[in-house]
Amino acid sequence: MTNTDHAPHSLWGGRFASGPDALFRAINDSLPFDWRLVRQDIEGSRAWAKALARAGVLAGEEVARLDGALAALETEAMSLAAPPVDSGAEDVHTWVEQKLVAALGPLGKKLHTGRSRNDQVATDLRLWTRAAIDERAAEIRELQRALIRLADREIDTPFPGYTHLQPAQPVLLAHWALAHFEALDRDRTRLADARARLNRCPLGSAALAGTAYPIDREALAKDLGFDAPTPNSLDGVADRDFALEALGACAVCAIHLSRLGEELIIYSTREFGMVEMDDAVTSGSSIMPQKKNPDACELLRGKAGRIIGDLVALLVTCKGLPLAYNKDLQEDKEPLFDALDHLGVCLRIAARVIDGCSFDRTRCRAAALAGFANATELADYLVGQGVPFRDAHEQVGALVRLALARGVTLEDLPLDDLRAHAPAVKGDVFGRLTLESTLAKRDVTGGTAPARVRAALARARSELGA
Ligand code: ARG
Repeated sequence: MTNTDHAPHSLWGGRFASGPDALFRAINDSLPFDWRLVRQDIEGSRAWAKALARAGVLAGEEVARLDGALAALETEAMSLAAPPVDSGAEDVHTWVEQKLVAALGPLGKKLHTGRSRNDQVATDLRLWTRAAIDERAAEIRELQRALIRLADREIDTPFPGYTHLQPAQPVLLAHWALAHFEALDRDRTRLADARARLNRCPLGSAALAGTAYPIDREALAKDLGFDAPTPNSLDGVADRDFALEALGACAVCAIHLSRLGEELIIYSTREFGMVEMDDAVTSGSSIMPQKKNPDACELLRGKAGRIIGDLVALLVTCKGLPLAYNKDLQEDKEPLFDALDHLGVCLRIAARVIDGCSFDRTRCRAAALAGFANATELADYLVGQGVPFRDAHEQVGALVRLALARGVTLEDLPLDDLRAHAPAVKGDVFGRLTLESTLAKRDVTGGTAPARVRAALARARSELGA
């Protein structure tokens, strides 16, 4: 039976004698998840209607009616709590067309002229990804602002610097906060770079060869906020690089958040005891009354795993696909949505965590001094006395051994003992071994000297307009 008067269930029934198997529909239908593109699908459809009018395919009056119906459809779609799977529509594009035909009859069926779901979905997904990138970038800024506030609060607080998680050299806590700020700054600009390459419009590529109607693709691209049309129709419908790049940028950002989370987990242990997190971002134990667990930070670590998984899933989906569209590409959406959603939650909670951190300045200072963190400073002092650095390194190593054996710090060793191993030491050495001197000496671009950190903080603040 042919069905030309009513809204069709599928967009391709004509050639088929029987409908799809229920199991086929279970694997093939994407409406349950591509419903998230409904806004973009309507936006793209409105622009397409205008483009068809410019091409002389639709009359001005027809475009006005299509536009009105699509605007009403958007309101209806936004009011729905869940994807309208009872509609029987295979995907979001089918649903929009079904509704349009139900509202406008034959005119609704004209909208798909010269268009394919292949260029439609590629366009929808670019529009969605572009908006999501903008949201994540704004959230990264918020987290950067939280780190600036932390650096401000702790501008004079010394903090232990580690390599191999062993005490290395003291830094300022503000320097540590700004280190994470820098990583996030790269994440933000990486997203912006991905956005710039993404911002081209595939619509008008049609199924694969380009539309057969005289569409002004430049004007169409502009209507949808794109910089230009995609230059090749095959590539326009086959390319998912924009999604891969967005996922890649998300994965790198998630890794940065996992490192930040991991540091806070360690520093908040009883053994380190340098920071306490706000109750609101931690949890207790159902059995151990004393527990305060850093769940938010653990999830920053944990979510990185799934976001990396999302990236890998789409990389593998795209690998080896022949041009142009293949149904495999329908699998692009869930990992993309998942990664951008979860990164958003992570960024927002990370800002909350940072704002709620209270650092124990006494313990931070003690930790910054511990573990012979001024040993390099003593070696540098000896270099200043004319000792070659390798010899100075050797002499200080011996002094560390001596201090360890006595259970004291380097600056606790009497001058005579210092001289026994490092004959160039003079009485002024003790001034050089203080925390303040050690910090002040790192007075280079990017160093932890207090003046440098203040300048870096001012730069960070002005960069963000914070
Ligand atoms: N639901 C499909 C997807 O997300 C839309 C494109 C369908 N194209 C096709 N030729 N069957 O990829």
